[in-house]
Amino acid sequence: MATTEIKKDIHWVGAIDWNIRDFHGYSTYRGTTYNAFLVKDKKIALFDTVKKSHTGELLHRIARVADPASIDYLIVNHVEMDHSGALPEVIERVKPEKIFCSPMGEKAIMEHFHPQDWPLHVVRSGDTIDLGSRRVQFLETRMLHWPDSMFSYIPENKLLISSDAFGQHFATSERFDDQVDFSELMRQTTKYYANILTLYSPLIRKLLAKVEEMNLDIDMIAPDHGLIWRSHIPDVLRAYDDWSRGKGRRKVLVIYDTMWESTHKMAKAITSAVSEEGVSVKMINLAVTHRSEVMTDVLDAKAVVLGSSTLNNGLLPRMAGFLMYMRGLRPGNKIGAAFGSYGWSGEAVKLMNAAMEEMKFDLVDPGVRIKYVPNHDSLRECTVLGKKIAALVKEQTEE
Ligand code: FEO
Repeated sequence: MATTEIKKDIHWVGAIDWNIRDFHGYSTYRGTTYNAFLVKDKKIALFDTVKKSHTGELLHRIARVADPASIDYLIVNHVEMDHSGALPEVIERVKPEKIFCSPMGEKAIMEHFHPQDWPLHVVRSGDTIDLGSRRVQFLETRMLHWPDSMFSYIPENKLLISSDAFGQHFATSERFDDQVDFSELMRQTTKYYANILTLYSPLIRKLLAKVEEMNLDIDMIAPDHGLIWRSHIPDVLRAYDDWSRGKGRRKVLVIYDTMWESTHKMAKAITSAVSEEGVSVKMINLAVTHRSEVMTDVLDAKAVVLGSSTLNNGLLPRMAGFLMYMRGLRPGNKIGAAFGSYGWSGEAVKLMNAAMEEMKFDLVDPGVRIKYVPNHDSLRECTVLGKKIAALVKEQTEE
């Protein structure tokens, strides 16, 4: 199994999970990697481990560059089990002198693994350890995206090991950003932010400001998933800056589910009206699109128009599930509106409006409800709604 020397004496020794397709509800159709890094200096240090199922792969790769028993330090940047599952076996094999983690990392390790005698050493933001010819500086990144998360920075190598931040679920034999298709890399980076980090956007703003204030000299960012950034660092930093501000592009999403095609016809009329106004629009049927793909599009859309037929005085289950998912991630700074067909009670539009109000979307219309099956005249209401949304999006975005 190949390892990669990403900097002099710093080796990628992680694992590639080609087959994973579901990551706690996030569709990972490109698989993923669990990145771990071995630094060979006077002290040998391993940064993070991998998912338990891939422990053998990690140990095999480590053995290609160093005797596992010669590792002195383990650094646990994040305790979520895709990076810590291998810890018990690794500790058994390595018998490290010290294991470094954040204060919340210590708690999380105790609560996950209940160890009796692991040599845990708590480090805080600004603490530094010496490996010999290089140092490691720690930066706690609480709630990005777990309480225990932290970054490790090696100034002598201008290397930031960034835990989940800047990662992507993207399994490849390549290790660097300039070795893969850039648009696919950015799609997977966008998807990762949209589905894992959106909720923490205010904290990301603070973190980006802090990193700027610290004036760190960085020429490589090594996340715990996917490709390592060396050629496109400004691109990913700019994207994180835009996403964390909730900056919307001139783009409208019409997201819907339909019972007997009436709501589908309404979705088509709205989509067509937006398009005729020269605004980019995407019609997304929840029956055929995974929620994590939908959220990827929501991240930089300026307007979200939701449609559902009324079923049993409520929403169609796929829309209810999507709203639950989107509410958890709380995307900010959106224009919102709703539509749907109904037979007699017709609560769906009211329920979608309430969910969007809770997410602080700017509701620009009471919504369009059509009884049973729309005709040419009633579809005109959808056209009016589409044109109104398009005009507002134009007003509030730059081309
Ligand atoms: Fe990749 Fe939060 O674990």
